[in-house]
Amino acid sequence: MKEAILIGTGLVGSEIQRLGKGSLRIKYLLRTTGIYSESGDKLTTLSELPKYTDVDIAIIAIPTLDNGERAFEYLLHFLKKGVPVVTCEKGALANFFPELKPYLRSVGYSATVGGGTRMIPFLQGYDNKKIESILAVINGTLNYIGSQIAAGEEPRAAVTQAIENGYTEPGPTGLIALINNEMQDVLLKCIILANTFNKDFELRASNVPWEPISESQLEEIASNSKTLRCQLSISKSRPASRIGGFLLKEGDWYIAAGFMPIERLGSNVSLGVENILIIKGSDGERVLRGPGAGKTPTALSMLEDVMGLLGE
Ligand SMILES: NC(=O)c1ccc[n+]([C@@H]2O[C@H](COP(=O)([O-])OP(=O)(O)OC[C@H]3O[C@@H](n4cnc5c(N)ncnc54)[C@H](OP(=O)(O)O)[C@@H]3O)[C@@H](O)[C@H]2O)c1
Repeated sequence: MKEAILIGTGLVGSEIQRLGKGSLRIKYLLRTTGIYSESGDKLTTLSELPKYTDVDIAIIAIPTLDNGERAFEYLLHFLKKGVPVVTCEKGALANFFPELKPYLRSVGYSATVGGGTRMIPFLQGYDNKKIESILAVINGTLNYIGSQIAAGEEPRAAVTQAIENGYTEPGPTGLIALINNEMQDVLLKCIILANTFNKDFELRASNVPWEPISESQLEEIASNSKTLRCQLSISKSRPASRIGGFLLKEGDWYIAAGFMPIERLGSNVSLGVENILIIKGSDGERVLRGPGAGKTPTALSMLEDVMGLLGE
């Protein structure tokens, strides 16, 4: 059986352990407090990590508490030793994509964007010259909260349900802070998706000026919850309207994210936590849909990456 080191044993990490049983041996576990054996005994401190690379794969499931530097260090550490890495942490890919480019064949990062939709491997295997525009819903949590409010739920109650369902990113739980934490998550995912779509882009999330949602904008979004959704748009035309998020111009392309009119999604509006990718191209329209947040779709997508990289 192939052997792994698992970095981060929280919601997602524990689910990987549970779902991977029988097909993958988690030989070492890494927490903030040190390195542990598979049975949970502490082996040593984190500074001894260089001695623990006798594994087939490294799996990263830590939060983004910095600009991704910590996860980037873990990625480089294993990749330079020839150990492939699967990660669901977004900061490293969103801020250090140019540095990771030479190693991307050995990195599984499907779970960083789109949950269980597998939109990243789809884009990696698709001829991007055919693409005319990309429209996506990539934050299942905001989509879930928006759908609940549109169905008549109070904003605070909708956020509480999202937290209880395990959909939210690690971090703040207050209404406006949580929404903006999810908006930050949207920014990271947009940059990863855009860099994957166009190999010429070298975007870094930390360089993107983004607009947090203000209290009054949140009220506007809540009272228009039936007509607004948080979306990503990559297109050669500038989106007509947007609340919060960001707008970038890169070559011929406008890359934007924020709350935009729901009718842009046409018949592909999703309710709840689902994520969607709509690609319009010279060969027609393609739509990918799937569960967008939650420990189980995330862990399943990561395990699929593991098996893909290990050739299983
Ligand atoms: N939950 C979801 O639905 C979902 C979906 C997609 C992606 N993700 C991503 O998955 C990642 C993990 O999320 P989660 O919900 O599992 O978080 P979590 O429950 O807060 O767990 C985080 C784990 O990471 C460990 N950790 C933190 N910093 C570390 C470091 N520098 N070195 C080693 N271990 C470290 C923590 O260790 P201690 O126990 O010692 O504190 C904890 O075990 C995040 O990047 C998140 O964005 C989550």
